[in-house]
Amino acid sequence: MSTFWSVFITVLVIAHLIGYALLLHGTSKMPAGSKIGETTGHVYDGDLEEYNNPLPRWWLWKFYLLIIFGFIYLALYPGLGSFKGLLGWSQYDQYAQDVAAAEERYGPLYEKLASIPIPELAKDPEAMQTGRRLFANNCAVCHGADARGAVGFPDLTDGVWLYGGTPEAIKTSILNGRHGVMPAWGATLGEEGVEQVAAYVYSLSGRSAPEHLTRPGAQKFATICAACHGIDGKGNQALGAPDLTAGVFMYGGSLEAIKTTIRDGRQGIMPAHRDILGEARAHIVAAYVYSLSAKEGDNHETGGGIVQ
Ligand code: HEC
Ligand code: HEC
Repeated sequence: MSTFWSVFITVLVIAHLIGYALLLHGTSKMPAGSKIGETTGHVYDGDLEEYNNPLPRWWLWKFYLLIIFGFIYLALYPGLGSFKGLLGWSQYDQYAQDVAAAEERYGPLYEKLASIPIPELAKDPEAMQTGRRLFANNCAVCHGADARGAVGFPDLTDGVWLYGGTPEAIKTSILNGRHGVMPAWGATLGEEGVEQVAAYVYSLSGRSAPEHLTRPGAQKFATICAACHGIDGKGNQALGAPDLTAGVFMYGGSLEAIKTTIRDGRQGIMPAHRDILGEARAHIVAAYVYSLSAKEGDNHETGGGIVQ
């Protein structure tokens, strides 16, 4: 805040408080020439007369005290322009103190949980309650409260993974973040080419598409797309290239959505959470994510294949 505005606000606030005090003082006096107990001559509803009486003392004093409180408060706490207050309190310090207090309280608990391997931790209901809370606070904005994702944000419960569903892969996704790069192919393929490849991709998840499109589409897929998505379209977790046969589409599985993806490209960004959460909390929330899709006999490398 510039000095001008700081002074402007300070003067304005103090002038107002003094103004209120003067106003109170003024209204507490009887107007000259009037007598206590006389009616003003105003009559309402037939028989309701208005008398000329001063404001009750207790009521007046309450307001004077309030104004005095205002001055004391403004002297102690920030409120007058950029004046920091005599106590030196700030919301940032307060927040830092609260965080430090919480860290002191929960830190050892987190450290203890962080030493337990993820698959084991994922079976501990109490730890998973902590995990769910961490998820709600840090991840739900993007992945949804139920972790089922949304367009552009992967479903973390379906057992189909961009980068892998092993405990290590999940933890790496959380700590370091991920950046998936699907280049735009509209210029290379042309609109006809986009239509052919899109039809082929559409058919990869077991849906039928016209053969006069899928045949040339398959050829183009082999030369351009297979480099990342694999010759069989099953993806590559090292690149975050999705499995196109699983029937799970982060950006939508309709023909139109697939065409848009191929024509314009996509770039999903999972922000790194190492600095936000720290290792211990990332470990616990990783176990929570692991628990969401961990079922007996589930293959965490490839996953199930749910059609959306
Ligand atoms: C350089 C590697 C690369 C190439 C080449 C590539 N892709 Fe991709 N593709 C990706 C990545 C990585 C993603 C995930 C993007 C993200 O995470 O935001 C992706 C995403 C997609 C998706 C979205 C899947 C979903 O879940 O919604 C489709 C469809 C797709 N690619 C089709 C193709 C087709 C068709 C081609 C060939 C014309 C192709 N890709 C070429 C890397 C590639
Ligand atoms: C700002 C939005 C955002 C937030 C916040 C976020 N994510 Fe993500 N996350 C994404 C996106 C987008 C992707 C997909 C990245 C890509 O397309 O390459 C992703 C990918 C992932 C993956 C990899 C999924 C896979 O299929 O391999 C995991 C695991 C994950 N997030 C977990 C979390 C957890 C746990 C948190 C909270 C600590 C979190 N995310 C917070 C947006 C977010």
